[in-house]
Amino acid sequence: MSGVAAHYGRVRGVLDQITAALESMGLDPATGVDPAVLAPADEFHLGGHEATMALTASLGIDTDSSVLDVGCGVGGPAREMARTYGCHVTGIDLAREFVYAAEGLSLMTGLESLTTFEVGDVTVLDRGDRAFDAATMLHVGMNVPDKPLLFEAVAAALRPGGRFGVYDIMRTGDGELGYPQPFAADESDSHLAAPDDYVSALESAGMEIIHIIDRSELVGRVVKRAAEGPATPLNLGLVMGREFPTMFANLRTALQGGVVGPIEIVAEKR
Ligand SMILES: C[S@@+](CC[C@H](N)C(=O)[O-])C[C@H]1O[C@@H](n2cnc3c(N)ncnc32)[C@H](O)[C@@H]1O
Repeated sequence: MSGVAAHYGRVRGVLDQITAALESMGLDPATGVDPAVLAPADEFHLGGHEATMALTASLGIDTDSSVLDVGCGVGGPAREMARTYGCHVTGIDLAREFVYAAEGLSLMTGLESLTTFEVGDVTVLDRGDRAFDAATMLHVGMNVPDKPLLFEAVAAALRPGGRFGVYDIMRTGDGELGYPQPFAADESDSHLAAPDDYVSALESAGMEIIHIIDRSELVGRVVKRAAEGPATPLNLGLVMGREFPTMFANLRTALQGGVVGPIEIVAEKR
């Protein structure tokens, strides 16, 4: 197992843990769960649900769209897109445990016919005869050293005119990061890059940049609201284990120091 897969595969029984948390909240997963309830545990990126909606608003997704979500995690963004736009989403992720949980959570929320999840490495996508109408990638590029290779793989899976929404933690300043981070146990699996590096890799993969937006304000608002709100048994500790608070504290320090920032880039395949 690669270091990245091991980092994200540290919790065994993710689906069981989320199920137990739902039951402790008085919900019965067997009779169906509102997908919005899952957001604190299944949207594994800064700004959660709000950031997903912000990213996907300009991708031209509708009920006829087939969307690829690279590095889908336990499938929160895929389910939110399916629920909001009525599209079909294919999620691909390295972590087998996450893919298993993603399938279970889609069944629980009645979104199994609009979402498909596969175990795979997004830098070696098996394109088959698929040409997706849009693609998304939320908080994944930090684990991928070769971004030109990654974006070439995504571009090859998109139809001409299809849009690609990237939302990553990018390097925005000098300085060291403390580890573990939510995206890497140590420096060896951390491949942060600056927005300019993303832009040149996207352009060299045949994509045109539509916009670049710093989502710091959105993230600050969502993090403040979560900190002020009641604690919920549903949280990313269920997905990443007991060290998650330390990981998040290290990320928060880097964000506050301007070393990294949550950056959205939307590009279109020529
Ligand atoms: C921080 S999580 C984000 C998950 C999801 N995009 C979300 O926002 O909820 C990063 C995910 O990227 C996946 N990942 C990292 N590198 C990958 C690769 N080369 N191929 C497929 N998945 C990858 C990890 O397994 C992990 O699930």
